[in-house]
Amino acid sequence: MSNSDILISCQGISKIYKKGQQEIKPLSNLDLDIFKGEFLALMGPSGSGKTTLLNLLAGIDSPSQGKLNFNGKDITNFSRRKLTKFRASNIGYIFQLYHLVPVLTAYENVELPLLIQPFSRKERHRRVVKALELANIADRADHYPKQLSGGQEQRVAIARALVSDPPLIVADEPTGDLDQSSAKKILDLLKSLCAELDKTVVMVTHDPKAATCADRTLFLEKGVLQETENVAH
Ligand SMILES: Nc1ncnc2c1ncn2[C@@H]1O[C@H](COP(=O)(O)OP(=O)(O)O)[C@@H](O)[C@H]1O
Ligand SMILES: [Mg+2]
Repeated sequence: MSNSDILISCQGISKIYKKGQQEIKPLSNLDLDIFKGEFLALMGPSGSGKTTLLNLLAGIDSPSQGKLNFNGKDITNFSRRKLTKFRASNIGYIFQLYHLVPVLTAYENVELPLLIQPFSRKERHRRVVKALELANIADRADHYPKQLSGGQEQRVAIARALVSDPPLIVADEPTGDLDQSSAKKILDLLKSLCAELDKTVVMVTHDPKAATCADRTLFLEKGVLQETENVAH
């Protein structure tokens, strides 16, 4: 693979949290290249730094040491303000518990990330409808979150992650709260985002079966990465 196939490059990344006198170092000198259009699963025991790594990849937090390149751009020392702007067009984030706003409809939840971008009302409408369709939830556009099943709520959350057309989607245990059949549909949807829309997806999961949907699985243990190439697709 050439450099132009790499979406994210981490070089010697560490993260250190200071709590009073105590230092916690969930990530230690980590090297990782993530390729454009790949579906990457991230596994590891609780507290091994999976969410910390996801947050660095997504520009929610910055590394304490090392270098982070996104699409050829060095984002390591971006200010909070610059990172916020960067995230708006480059990152879609999906959470285990969906994080939808309860007083907004599915449509309005998906429209939310666009309100901080300079789009006309018409362009917003076009994008929201397209994202709802891609996530197979357009028929529930006028529903409020409490009127939806968990699987449907996660579809709305995926539409919200897609609406800005970002190259990277990160998902922190997106099927952790779903029954098996809803989880399977969400995994199929994430997989199709890579295959059909050329998105890069990084998914944290506890479920080895979910990880087999990915092209590659990384195991994080005490801040160190191991990797396996998945064969079953
Ligand atoms: N904001 C924070 N401040 C201090 N410690 C943190 C913070 N976020 C995470 N940690 C610590 O870093 C370690 C890794 O956490 P996390 O990335 O959430 O693990 P995982 O997602 O694999 O369960 C844990 O020991 C956790 O307590
Ligand atoms: Mg976590």
